[in-house]
Amino acid sequence: MAALKFREVLLAAGRLPQLPFRRTLHLGVAVGLLVSAILYIGLTHWENIFARRRSVVLQMGSCRFQLDLGVHLALYPHLQRYRCRELVSEDAWCRGPWPAPLLLLAIKSHPASWERRAVLRRTWAQQRPMDGFFLQPVFLVATASEDSLAQALRQEIQVFGDVLWWDFGESPRNQSLKERCLLQWVHNHCQGVAYVFKANDDIFVNPYELTQYLKEIPRVSDFIHGNLANEEPVVRTGDAAVPCLLYPLEHYPPFITGGTILPGALIPELYRVSLQLPVFPLDEAYLGFLALAAGITLRHEGRFQVRGVVKDEPEAYKESLTIHGVSMERMEEVWKELWD
Ligand SMILES: *[C@@H]1O[C@H](CO)[C@@H](O)[C@H](O)[C@H]1NC(C)=O
Repeated sequence: MAALKFREVLLAAGRLPQLPFRRTLHLGVAVGLLVSAILYIGLTHWENIFARRRSVVLQMGSCRFQLDLGVHLALYPHLQRYRCRELVSEDAWCRGPWPAPLLLLAIKSHPASWERRAVLRRTWAQQRPMDGFFLQPVFLVATASEDSLAQALRQEIQVFGDVLWWDFGESPRNQSLKERCLLQWVHNHCQGVAYVFKANDDIFVNPYELTQYLKEIPRVSDFIHGNLANEEPVVRTGDAAVPCLLYPLEHYPPFITGGTILPGALIPELYRVSLQLPVFPLDEAYLGFLALAAGITLRHEGRFQVRGVVKDEPEAYKESLTIHGVSMERMEEVWKELWD
């Protein structure tokens, strides 16, 4: 009846051609559905729709520079356009209630590195309470081209259930997608997390020192923590080359190398800027850009030993937060000696 009235009003106003009633009704229903669909998509994806990636100007000290979306799109289109899609993910990792604040150990790993993951599961990457925190390891994995690797990974996931798997291709440049998609995943599925500790699967981590550190540093949730690379020169040749066109300055803004502590309180802001900034093809520098855009200070801590230790003795492992360049055999040996 309402539709009939509506039609009569429109006819009277001379706006509608003389369509048969049925056709007008169908048109009305179609328009109604379309409007509802647009409203629905708008409401559920408003963050993605209104926060577009764009060129941004950043300020580093007295120096201003631009990250140009056009150039990023021309050189690394899939880094800008990829929409994070998980093949395997587990809400249970973050669904409490936990006996203690959640410390997510987010470990970047390649599908082929199952041996490393096995060692980490036997050493520092174990789900357990520790020192007033609850540790939850999650391996961050993308997709390798070989089918056999995907098969093996599926089986591994069935047994251990600690792998967050995305459908983009594994490659050095694509590691920035792990940063971006991790922020999105934590923001959407893990809002209660107290801290995210992010690292590659090739380092030694001392979780006892890590939890101590979180307790003893004042205003720990105000900063991103790790070993700070300050004034890191931009490399223009070789594997990690960055063309002038993409980033014209000679030094990067400060960024963290190796293991990084991201307080949960800073994730919403980091995620928000990750929707706006062009995605830079070097993961560590990319997180540095995000921190700069979000106005977050990076805190340097020398016990993240990114150049290894001078003397390979048990004391060094006890005192460090992380150590680079430790073989998997040595890692297991030290772990057994000190903590098993
Ligand atoms: C990076 O991921 C994208 C999206 O899956 C893919 O198209 C591209 O080939 C990947 N890059 C490499 C070098 O594998």
